Amino acid sequence: MSQYQIAVVVGSLRKDSFNRKLADAIAKLAPPDFSFKQVQIGDLPLYNQEDDTHPAEPVQRLKGEIKAAQGLLFVTAEYNRSIPGVLKNAIDHASRPYGQSAWAGKPAGILGVSVGAIGTAMAQQHLRNILAYLDVPTLGQPEAFIQAREGLFDEAGDVGADSRQFLQTWMHRYEAWVKHHAA
Ligand SMILES: Cc1cc2nc3c(=O)[nH]c(=O)nc-3n(C[C@H](O)[C@H](O)[C@H](O)COP(=O)(O)O)c2cc1C
Repeated sequence: MSQYQIAVVVGSLRKDSFNRKLADAIAKLAPPDFSFKQVQIGDLPLYNQEDDTHPAEPVQRLKGEIKAAQGLLFVTAEYNRSIPGVLKNAIDHASRPYGQSAWAGKPAGILGVSVGAIGTAMAQQHLRNILAYLDVPTLGQPEAFIQAREGLFDEAGDVGADSRQFLQTWMHRYEAWVKHHAA
C-alpha cells in the first residue's frame, strides 16, 4: 500500500470537468509511494449547523476520508472569481462541529484550470484564505493557474507536452511538502 494517501477534492461536479481531468492526470505524475483518491462531494447536503449533532452519512464519509489521508489536493474551478459553492460546502462540513475539524494540519496543494485567462487565480487566493484559517499548511510555490487550451491533455488523458514539465516540477515540490509535514 502507498505510504502517502492523498484526498483529492475537485471543485466541480461537471462530468467532463477540466479540473477532474487535471486531478486524474496529475496523479500519474506522482511518485510510487503516493496514492490519490478523489472524495465525493456532490452528494453532501447543504451545510446546516443544526445537523452538527447528527451528521448525514456522506458527511461522516467525507470526514473519515480526510482524516485517513496524509495530504490534501484541491483541484478547483473558479466561479465568479471565487471557489464554487459545492467546494465551500464540503469544506464547511468537514470543519465542524467546532473543535472537530478534519482538515487541521493536513498538508495541501492547490491546482486549478479555467477557461479564463487568469486560470482560477482569484479562486485559489480565496481558497488559501479559508485553508489558512483551518490550519492547513498550503504549498505556496509554484502557483499553478492553468488555462484550458487545446493540448492541455493528450488523447490518453495525460498532461500534454506544453504543461508536462511545469506540472512535474509542481509535483516534486508537492511531494516534498507532504513528506515534510507528514513526518
Ligand atoms: C457559474 C460560473 C461562473 C464562472 N466564473 C468564472 C470565473 O470567475 N473565472 C473563470 O476563469 N471562469 C469562470 N467560469 C468558467 C469556468 O472556468 C468553466 O466553466 C470551467 O470549465 C469550469 O471548470 P470545470 O471544467 O472543471 O467544470 C464560470 C463558469 C460558471 C458555470
